[in-house]
Amino acid sequence: MLEEIKRTAAFIDERTQHFGPEAGIILGTGLGDFAEQIEVCHALDYKDIPGFPVSTVEGHRGRLIFGMLEGRRVVAMQGRFHYYEGYTMAQVTFPVRVMKLLGIRTLFVSNASGGINPTFRVGDLMVITDHINLMPNPLVGPNLAELGPRFPDMHGCYDPQLIARATELAEQAGIKLQYGVYVGGTGPTFETQAEYRYFKAIGGDAAGMSTVPEVIVARHMGLPVFGVSVITNCGLSPEAGDHEDVQRQGRRAGTRMAALFRAMIRNL
Ligand code: HPA
Repeated sequence: MLEEIKRTAAFIDERTQHFGPEAGIILGTGLGDFAEQIEVCHALDYKDIPGFPVSTVEGHRGRLIFGMLEGRRVVAMQGRFHYYEGYTMAQVTFPVRVMKLLGIRTLFVSNASGGINPTFRVGDLMVITDHINLMPNPLVGPNLAELGPRFPDMHGCYDPQLIARATELAEQAGIKLQYGVYVGGTGPTFETQAEYRYFKAIGGDAAGMSTVPEVIVARHMGLPVFGVSVITNCGLSPEAGDHEDVQRQGRRAGTRMAALFRAMIRNL
């Protein structure tokens, strides 16, 4: 597996003329538009990258973009791989390991989630302060010791300094932020009412189906992570959420999230 990660990284490095991205960005549901703000230097479709899975969900484009943002070299995943699509955890997290080998020193993650904190409103941005993993752990199996330790520490999983900087920058930009714990389940079902109550009871503020595996492998490799979640529906409300709503709300909040990510990248 390590060989495959290295092979893919070498292929991309060659194709992108040794671009050497400083930061990696994973764009979640409905947030793919953010990619348009990047001055693209190279774009590779996932299907053309050996070793990469191909994304299947509506609203996910499926390419890796290398370009400039706020004067920094970034690599952005336009579309990610979800466990519920049937990929293995190794496949879901493969691109994060490749981005690390390509040289990124910070990982930015975004996603859409269902709010379970009763003070949250649809369209809010939640800075992820911690997570609860209810999916299989992507590090189960032989440890890739060259990448990280057998028993990685998960304190400060979402980098406290990056969170503090986001607070300052959002205040300067007049962007309202919420903060909370992201509960990652497998999906693809949205939660039952009882499950949303359960997520709240165990300390969650928002429920989603992504991000946690990617963050675990990033932390395994010692990569600092900053994550933001767009609250696209309120889990505890009696109305059902649906995927179209999630995409629409994701796009609407996308503008604010883009402004925050840009400010964070400018200040790296
Ligand atoms: N649950 C899980 N994933 C989600 C939700 C939700 O309510 N909304 C957007 N992604």
